[in-house]
Amino acid sequence: MSMDSLNVDYSTTIPNNVGLMEDRRVLKALEGWHPGYLNWWNDMGPDGFQEKLVYLRTAYSVDPRGWAKFDYVRMPEYRWGVLLAPQEENRTIPFGQHYGEPAWQEIPGEHRAALRRLVVIQGDTEPASVEQQRHLGKTAPSLYDMRNLFQVNVEEGRHLWAMVYLLQKYFGRDGREEADELLRRRSGSEDSPRMLGAFNEATPDWLSFFMFTYFTDRDGKMQLHSLAQSGFDPLSRTCRFMLTEEAHHMFVGETGITRVVQRTCDAMKEAGIDDPYAIDKVRALGVIDLPTIQKKLHLHYSLSLDLFGSEVSTNAANAFNNGLKGRYQETKIDDDHRLENSTYPVLKFIDGQIKLVDEPALTALNMRLRDDYTQDCAKGLLRWNKVISTAGITFELKLPHTAFHRQIGEFKDVHASPEGVIVDDATWAKKRNEWLPSKADGDFIASLMKPVAEPGKYAGWISAPKVGIDNKPGDFEYVKIDT
Ligand SMILES: [Fe+2]
Ligand SMILES: [Fe+2]
Repeated sequence: MSMDSLNVDYSTTIPNNVGLMEDRRVLKALEGWHPGYLNWWNDMGPDGFQEKLVYLRTAYSVDPRGWAKFDYVRMPEYRWGVLLAPQEENRTIPFGQHYGEPAWQEIPGEHRAALRRLVVIQGDTEPASVEQQRHLGKTAPSLYDMRNLFQVNVEEGRHLWAMVYLLQKYFGRDGREEADELLRRRSGSEDSPRMLGAFNEATPDWLSFFMFTYFTDRDGKMQLHSLAQSGFDPLSRTCRFMLTEEAHHMFVGETGITRVVQRTCDAMKEAGIDDPYAIDKVRALGVIDLPTIQKKLHLHYSLSLDLFGSEVSTNAANAFNNGLKGRYQETKIDDDHRLENSTYPVLKFIDGQIKLVDEPALTALNMRLRDDYTQDCAKGLLRWNKVISTAGITFELKLPHTAFHRQIGEFKDVHASPEGVIVDDATWAKKRNEWLPSKADGDFIASLMKPVAEPGKYAGWISAPKVGIDNKPGDFEYVKIDT
């Protein structure tokens, strides 16, 4: 393929900038996989909206100055394609024992199994989130939000394509089998669940969707950043382009939560309520009280922390040492990029106490990525808290302590409060519904999830966005419901 293939070839069934026309073997394999993908999309994609015209962006180039065009599309006709960021000339491996050597265009045999696992785990999350979100269209608070949901869904579908392309092109028969497995597993299934915990949880309502796109898609961002550093150049280029799309998903989450918080604060002010804990009074206004928003945040943040795996991990060390998966913004870090002699502080549970302990930096890479993630998460909280303080309400949304509600890693066998105080089982049982969404909280939120499908109108629990998608006016018909 040419080095500057910025534009996408739409002449094959599979739009691509990887020269698929000349790569008949891979083209055939992908064409063979395509019908199964469409069946999956029709079965597990947005329920009830497959025939509607949706105002979606489609990637037509990988040029960062202009890479997408917007138009009305029926989702099953979306042009899911294979797009890699342009090849960087003379790119070298930026970390690990191969530091400074030319990046690999083919997979080194000894790293094949480990790389396949990284690609499959990333690939598995993409269709999982589509499955988790498939019922949300029916309760969308506006056409604008519905469109954003569907945009996220089709792009997660494309991310699956991106990973399947790598599997088909570079991993031979095992790759083809893994590609089929990606269409066979189902989020939340007893027999064949998705690979990671957070991707088997339900996304029952729109506040969950916004929390998911803010916190769980952001785990995806961190993983993609680390894989974008990979010595295996096709993986690096794939992930770099996926990050362009991923930014919108987190925008949807961040602005979604901002708008929910805004609406709650506005309603409280209008009603003259300044006590955020006057939950019944606030709920009577048809908005979500701030403590419940905090509980949802606790849930989604803690589930997302689990996605980073064990704090101390030899797998992570090997992936780094072997040049497969780097650190967040590896090339901007000022150190030896080998980490053979350095340490990193890790939170551990020792003798009944939470302690910060220095561990070899190589085995602490999951912890480091998780710390980078936490820092990245904090930005949204600043914005949301600004909305609350501007409204004159005394309440602050907070990220819970790392030890809170964990199923993986150092704290999986203990209970801790959101502040990080270790508590016994009885206290946990008593406090659980104060710290995490209860059945009653879920029922209340569900009661608000009434669809609003008139252009320019919004459900009462969420404020209107400040600007439209693609600069469209406020009453733009993002989804043609009557088609
Ligand atoms: Fe994705
Ligand atoms: Fe995403």
